[in-house]
Amino acid sequence: PSAPIVVRAIRPTMKMIEGVLFGMGNPLLDISATVGKGYLEKYNLKANDAILAEDKHLPMYEEIVKMFAVDYIAGGATQNSIKVAQWMLGKPLSTTFVGCIGQDNFGDILKEKAEEVGVRTAYYRQSEIPTGLCAALLCGTDRSLCANLAAANNYKVSHLQEKDNWALVEQASYYYIAGFFLTVSPESIMLVAKHAAQNGKTFMMNLSAPFLSQFFTKPMMEAMPYVDILFGNETEAQAFADKHEFNTKDIGEIAKRIAGLPKVNSTKPRMVVITQGCQSTLIATGPHELTEHQIIPLDTSKIVDTNGAGDAFVGGFLALLVKGKPVKECVQAGHFAANLIIQRSGCTFPKECTYE
Ligand SMILES: Nc1ncnc2c1ncn2[C@@H]1O[C@H](COP(=O)(O)OP(=O)(O)OP(=O)(O)O)[C@@H](O)[C@H]1O
Ligand SMILES: *[C@@H]1O[C@H](CO)[C@@H](O)[C@H](O)[C@H]1NC(C)=O
Ligand SMILES: *[C@@H]1O[C@H](CO)[C@@H](O)[C@H](O)[C@H]1NC(C)=O
Ligand SMILES: *[C@@H]1O[C@H](CO)[C@@H](O)[C@H](O)[C@H]1NC(C)=O
Repeated sequence: PSAPIVVRAIRPTMKMIEGVLFGMGNPLLDISATVGKGYLEKYNLKANDAILAEDKHLPMYEEIVKMFAVDYIAGGATQNSIKVAQWMLGKPLSTTFVGCIGQDNFGDILKEKAEEVGVRTAYYRQSEIPTGLCAALLCGTDRSLCANLAAANNYKVSHLQEKDNWALVEQASYYYIAGFFLTVSPESIMLVAKHAAQNGKTFMMNLSAPFLSQFFTKPMMEAMPYVDILFGNETEAQAFADKHEFNTKDIGEIAKRIAGLPKVNSTKPRMVVITQGCQSTLIATGPHELTEHQIIPLDTSKIVDTNGAGDAFVGGFLALLVKGKPVKECVQAGHFAANLIIQRSGCTFPKECTYE
């Protein structure tokens, strides 16, 4: 009888996991403060809203730092997800984040806050435009968000092509870029997408907001053939379906249709992951397969702030994905992270992760 074939499992060594997950997006320093109604009125802000800053809001950022006891958090959708993934992975420098910030004090704080969690940052730091900021004004149980992208909008593909930064791209096996970055540097997205395809790695994006499907259709559809995993919520999925005339309101059907769109290297079918708030998460794998995954129910009285729930879900999902876990376990980790984050203010988490 012939000797049994011994297949030696490759143990993930420290080196293998380092920098395994690469994120690129809009870094924003979140500045949160508890304010009174009067302060919101001064800037014409609604108590529960998320807007982009206009010129009249710009003096507000320095002002809240002077007037209130503020908290600083390294934010922005992609950076939030990368931080949550890093937190769940535990081992420092498992993740890398790239984006554009300024040569200013807020930029220093942002870098420090992201690195505190263990993320390796490789920011493009330029001096023309200041660091992007997001004011989170808490008033009772309401939360008014006012974001000024500033430097985040100024990312350049030339930064990604620098030797040391490209080495970080090559080191990774998984890439995640939220759709918001389509408005900033589609060239950078395509560069990473093609690298992933050519090397059999995993490229992931997020629909991120209805306006991206509606108005950034061209760069989104250029990237789509390279997307192995696409995230989004039900509203975003519907907006995509309307733009592409799918003529259906069935979210599962929409997920399957998106999963079936043309793909380079079609041997790996595209996966589309759609969250639906307090309802089950749907996952389409290619055009014919659909699975439904229960969330972790939470009593309404325990919900503090649902902002960042989607970002946290993605972070939890990615943490298990890069460890090679099956999709079912990835979704469970996503639901765990989302459940934890909605019981806290903002996209924040405790020091230690207790997830197993
Ligand atoms: N009311 C809720 N009860 C329990 N879990 C919830 C609730 N809302 C959200 N979640 C959790 O958060 C995940 C993501 O939620 P959702 O689909 O609302 O994301 P989202 O709309 O992108 O959120 P946001 O844009 O505020 O970050 C859900 O899959 C679920 O696990
Ligand atoms: C498909 O994947 C293979 C190996 O994973 C790679 O060599 C090839 O270039 C890829 N094709 C495209 C279009 O990127
Ligand atoms: C999905 O996300 C969008 C922002 O892209 C948000 O406006 C919407 O309320 C979310 N939908 C649900 C059902 O949570
Ligand atoms: C990304 O995907 C998640 C989960 O599918 C979704 O809930 C969220 O709204 C998206 N968010 C951003 C900001 O990219």
